[in-house]
Amino acid sequence: MKVLEIDDVHVTHHRRGQSDVRAVRGVSLSVAPGQVVGLVGESGCGKSSLARVAVGLDAPTSGTVRFEGSPLVPSRLTARAKSALGLQMVFQNPYASLSPRRTIGSQVLDGLRAPMSRGEGEAEAIRLLELVGLDPDSRRRYPNQFSGGQRQRLAIARALAARPTLMIADEPVTALDAFSSAQIVKLLTGLVRELDMGMLFISHDLSLVRAIADETAVMYAGEIVERGPSETLWNDPQHDYTKTLISAIPVIGPNQRKKRTPHAG
Ligand SMILES: Nc1ncnc2c1ncn2[C@@H]1O[C@H](COP(=O)(O)OP(=O)(O)OP(=O)(O)O)[C@@H](O)[C@H]1O
Ligand SMILES: [Mg+2]
Repeated sequence: MKVLEIDDVHVTHHRRGQSDVRAVRGVSLSVAPGQVVGLVGESGCGKSSLARVAVGLDAPTSGTVRFEGSPLVPSRLTARAKSALGLQMVFQNPYASLSPRRTIGSQVLDGLRAPMSRGEGEAEAIRLLELVGLDPDSRRRYPNQFSGGQRQRLAIARALAARPTLMIADEPVTALDAFSSAQIVKLLTGLVRELDMGMLFISHDLSLVRAIADETAVMYAGEIVERGPSETLWNDPQHDYTKTLISAIPVIGPNQRKKRTPHAG
């Protein structure tokens, strides 16, 4: 069974005194357990609008979203109910998603499906911090004592507290430097295999998506213009927009380096 099924979803944003924005236009997409699906496209093409609907934060204007086979009804979902579903989202900005005033240990447990005793909570916080590669002693500290990459690990630990079967990551590494970004990507893909979660990984970076996603969907102006196994799409792109995306990626190889080296004679 698919963990996420998006069928012919449209999302129209209504703006007071201005024309409507048709951000998502008839998108269908699915994610299986243990599968990473990449969603790639330029800024403003509708990725986050789709992500918010997929995770139940917004209702689609039309179309359906099924989570583990059942329709997602956003209006009825409180934060607690959403986490009980095992549906989690990791956002672009790890600074905004953590409260500066509460300890790491307590915030990591926000995602729990059911309350735990003090002792159980302590053990669970330690387990989660270790799972994302952080020192368990950091549970007594506050978010401002952590780097961007560490905060994104914390945000992931909090999402994992719900033992999700689906994780939607919307540009989770965009705010990070290349090294932290590589580590977070490795962590997320490792968790998908280890925990058999499905993941929808959203990015404007096609080479990143290629490296981690089993399947890639290319979004352009609210529509999926091409999708398929990531390698096939990369090696044999069909749509002009996909070709443009690929040709825009700088190639750093031996030939290019040769070109830059001035000839001695
Ligand atoms: N709440 C909103 N109200 C009105 N318009 C919105 C709203 N959210 C998004 N939009 C518009 O919908 C379109 C798609 O936005 P969206 O945030 O989904 O794009 P995106 O692909 O996630 O872009 P980025 O890569 O910059 O994050 C844009 O034109 C945006 O201005
Ligand atoms: Mg976005």
